[in-house]
Amino acid sequence: MIKIICVCGARPNFMKIAPLMKAFKENGNFQILLVHTGQHYDAKMSNLFFDELNIPKPDINLEVGSGSHAVQTAEIMKRFEPVIIDFKPDYVLVVGDVNSTIACGLVAVKLGVKLIHIEAGLRSFDRTMPEEINRLLTDSISDLLFVTEQSGINNLKNEGVNSDKVHLVGNVMIDTLLANKEKAEQSDILEKMGLKKKGFAVITLHRPSNVDDMDNLGKIISAFEVIQKDLKLVFPIHPRTKKNIENSALQARVVAMTNLVLLEPVGYLDFLKLTANAAVVMTDSGGIQEETTILQVPCMTLRENTERPVTVTEGTNRLIHIDTQDILKHYNEIKANGFEVKGGIPRFWDGKAAQRIAEVLLAFSSKLQT
Ligand code: UD1
Ligand code: UDP
Repeated sequence: MIKIICVCGARPNFMKIAPLMKAFKENGNFQILLVHTGQHYDAKMSNLFFDELNIPKPDINLEVGSGSHAVQTAEIMKRFEPVIIDFKPDYVLVVGDVNSTIACGLVAVKLGVKLIHIEAGLRSFDRTMPEEINRLLTDSISDLLFVTEQSGINNLKNEGVNSDKVHLVGNVMIDTLLANKEKAEQSDILEKMGLKKKGFAVITLHRPSNVDDMDNLGKIISAFEVIQKDLKLVFPIHPRTKKNIENSALQARVVAMTNLVLLEPVGYLDFLKLTANAAVVMTDSGGIQEETTILQVPCMTLRENTERPVTVTEGTNRLIHIDTQDILKHYNEIKANGFEVKGGIPRFWDGKAAQRIAEVLLAFSSKLQT
């Protein structure tokens, strides 16, 4: 048996870990310990996804909670070290680019345990973004790097990473989307909210560059004030964003928008139903850029850059400056096209990424033993 500790901690990690847990179980050659760091802990940011996506209950929850980057990362490291010492895994597997990713990766390699990184190689080339630091550092210490799109392969090559370690396998986030698409169609969120298909936009925002900077958040809100006169806006709000808006003068403007509906974060199936039926999605999320590409829904990414360029070159995504007029210009263009957008499906985004990862891992481990 190949012993692996799989790590998850924040919302987007759960969609990525779900198909891996299933593929490892089906493959039969793996003994898995699932560790939740506790980086996200609200029921609607964590537990909900375990139930909906049939992820086994974590074997261990480190319960680190929130904190500054240093405090959170250090606390995860301190609490994760004894878990590795006790379980003695062959590998530690981390996904994505959150603080839990680099914290657990660093602990693993310092204990001489091989590190697997899922969603390796993505680069926004913006080092003010905390995730970019997490990506660069995690990739530089990983032994096996599983990549979702060709740009990731190119970036790792340019950084001098040995190509033997790197595998283009597709996208585990899309495995989860494809596995749950039919189930999500059963969600009654449209009826419950009185929404018509293509009669609303979905919004998500949580990047510090947008929601910790009140100037930028103000420019975005100004655009929403105009758009909501035209189209209903559905905004499941991230706790970081909620806290920031509540503590600012923007709160009154958000509340005053009569055609903007604020929601708590919603479950995966409801969110998938919302995005699949939205006229347009406005977001700064990483994963949602990928999901809208598969769903063939226009995506306005409110960011200056993306680490997922294939969603722009092949998919339905476009980058929008944090500027009220630019947001309105792109919105009007998309509206003029009847909210229709045509895009292609990136290579290997076919629902089988996790299976490919399990096969590569099995082959890699047998080679090590011979
Ligand atoms: C984190 C990730 C980000 C990812 C996002 C997904 C890092 C550096 N950032 O950002 O890459 O895109 O998750 O959603 O790892 N909070 C709650 N309840 C929770 C979780 C958080 O109220 O369950 C609040 C706390 O006030 C906390 C704040 O949200 O301080 C930020 O949480 P944190 O995990 O530090 O970063 P995110 O903004 O969620
Ligand atoms: N998502 C969700 N409910 C919401 C908002 C997002 O289930 O209210 C899902 C979304 O479909 C995607 C993931 O959360 O699968 C993206 O997570 P997030 O935007 O928090 O993080 P990022 O991808 O930016 O790291």
